[in-house]
Amino acid sequence: MTDIQMNGTELRSDPLADEILQIVNGATKYKIMVQCVESGFFDAIESVGEPASLELLSKKFGYDLEILERLMNTLVSYRLIIVEQNKKGSNTYKNSPSTSKYLTRSKKPTMIGLIMMSDKMCLPLTENLPELLKNGLPKFDINRNIAAMKNGMNKNGVNLTDIKNEKNITEMKMKTIKIEDKISPTCSPTKTNVSKSNKMPPMPNGMNMNKMPPMPNGMMAMKMSMMSTSMMSSMMPKPNNMDNPPCDMLSKFIMSTDAFSCSCASAVVRAFDLSPHREAVDLGGGSGRISIELSNTYTNMKVTMFDLPPVVQLAQKMFPNNSDGTLQYKAGDFFEDDIPSGDLYILGHVLHAWDELRVDQLLNKVFAKLPPGGSLLVLEKVLSDDKSSPEICATNDLILALMSKGKERNASEYQKLFAKHGFTNVQFRYIDGYNYCDAILVKKPF
Ligand SMILES: C[S@@+](CC[C@H](N)C(=O)[O-])C[C@H]1O[C@@H](n2cnc3c(N)ncnc32)[C@H](O)[C@@H]1O
Repeated sequence: MTDIQMNGTELRSDPLADEILQIVNGATKYKIMVQCVESGFFDAIESVGEPASLELLSKKFGYDLEILERLMNTLVSYRLIIVEQNKKGSNTYKNSPSTSKYLTRSKKPTMIGLIMMSDKMCLPLTENLPELLKNGLPKFDINRNIAAMKNGMNKNGVNLTDIKNEKNITEMKMKTIKIEDKISPTCSPTKTNVSKSNKMPPMPNGMNMNKMPPMPNGMMAMKMSMMSTSMMSSMMPKPNNMDNPPCDMLSKFIMSTDAFSCSCASAVVRAFDLSPHREAVDLGGGSGRISIELSNTYTNMKVTMFDLPPVVQLAQKMFPNNSDGTLQYKAGDFFEDDIPSGDLYILGHVLHAWDELRVDQLLNKVFAKLPPGGSLLVLEKVLSDDKSSPEICATNDLILALMSKGKERNASEYQKLFAKHGFTNVQFRYIDGYNYCDAILVKKPF
């Protein structure tokens, strides 16, 4: 024990540095998780089926033993891996329940889509922040891209021609969006990715292996063995719910939006008693996660999931076993087309993505369609009154500014918005936990 500790003075680094170092380390943590997801490292651990020693994992997957141990220690500190002792007193490793549920390709729901979209689209978009700060206009428009995808479906999935020609996206940004099938294991092998399967998978962010600075031996071994894990995972059995989804931006986008709701779907459908409603319409339902949960929870309710045609096609492929009659799918454009009739409409993560004009258009349409006494359920994370929390929502508000003219709102802004359109009885239910979802229920008066 040192003299300094013995005289009882507090030994502490400058607290002013805490937040900054936490954010910096957060970025590194995030990148390590992305690499483990992309390379199929967690899939490899999952495939063993039981806690395994480092020696076994090293032998089975060709990992460098020392680097594997250091990676495992790091992942244990993030609580993504669990270490436990076997009967002989040696350490064995397995995925944590969170990793197993959300970060492996063999399970659903999965957050892999969100991670890929965040890494390839949201993070590069943050580079536009200084420009956005000066001129207030996003350089990239996610809604124009979604609209471009509307008619881009062919029998192999959505082609990217329209999006490639999108004028307001720089080449650099396109590279980041035109994901090179990094998550191909979740998708059925198309002709192109089958022929690629003997080659090295692409490096993240367009990096070229040949141009990379030399790595220390262990690191290179790790990188190489993670690469081979990636190739190996592309040969793993496909989960039967993902038999034939198109491997393109759309599927990644939808999988990423699915991650917005998959952890809270069960909570949001129970946030209010919706049982008096007979016909629900989930506008912009995405993967259909909320529709499915609704239909499973309120078995007497007829639920229609409404979205753009390619999205509906994809959602049905993602969850093929849910078309049991109470859940229906309808393709269309909620701005241009008539929307299905219902006494309950759901807008999940839709309002925050559009400018005021579009939001007004949509709310007018819903209000006009609803019978008196009907309801609208809005699923959005609600900002605090001063808009500085929760952190996840404040961050997403800025991301929305970088990719759309949409925004997150606080409770009083939602109150005003709904009042402007004639809705009454505005009720908020906050969903605990770290998530992107709160529930707001409003009524059309009698
Ligand atoms: C962020 S996702 C939300 C998905 C889902 N509601 C949820 O909360 O998980 C927005 C959805 O709106 C859909 N969308 C965008 N423009 C649309 C339009 N004009 N008509 C119908 N759906 C549209 C997108 O395809 C996407 O599935």
